[in-house]
Amino acid sequence: MIAKKINTALNAQVNAELFSAYLYMSMSAWCSQRSLSGMANWMRCQAQEEQFHAMKIYDYILERGGHISLDAIEKPSAEWDSPIALFEETARHEAKVTGLINDLVSLSIKEKDYAAHIFLQWFVTEQVEEEASVSEVLERMKMIGDDSAGMFAMDMELAKRLFTPPVAP
Ligand SMILES: [Fe+2]
Ligand SMILES: [Fe+2]
Repeated sequence: MIAKKINTALNAQVNAELFSAYLYMSMSAWCSQRSLSGMANWMRCQAQEEQFHAMKIYDYILERGGHISLDAIEKPSAEWDSPIALFEETARHEAKVTGLINDLVSLSIKEKDYAAHIFLQWFVTEQVEEEASVSEVLERMKMIGDDSAGMFAMDMELAKRLFTPPVAP
């Protein structure tokens, strides 16, 4: 059986993951509206990943006999100054999510919930990957700067991303 504190904290993380999905959907729409279809695709894949994260936690709560209590999802931003600003916010957001995951890991240790501790390791690893992939795109965009040919090539590159749900566990 899942500890009440862990159940509450994981429920909150389901909401945080769904907010991430919402934010990336909003970013994807912003890109689509500016004909940046490759970036729109990248953000759309990112949103799908976040939905997958939410469901992974949701399934875990249920598997452990916990209780699901869904909260309202906060409204995401819809306007950014540039593609760079968009990816800067993505990088900041992922760093924040890493903090949330780390807090959950700390709580699992404090509550001696070793099953939750093992479960959360997947998310610790995932955040390393998330932060690395966003910072790679951001750094390359900074190199490109105002060069529209470079930005066009970058957009073509980001069009290649495909979301494939990771296989269990
Ligand atoms: Fe996530
Ligand atoms: Fe993420």
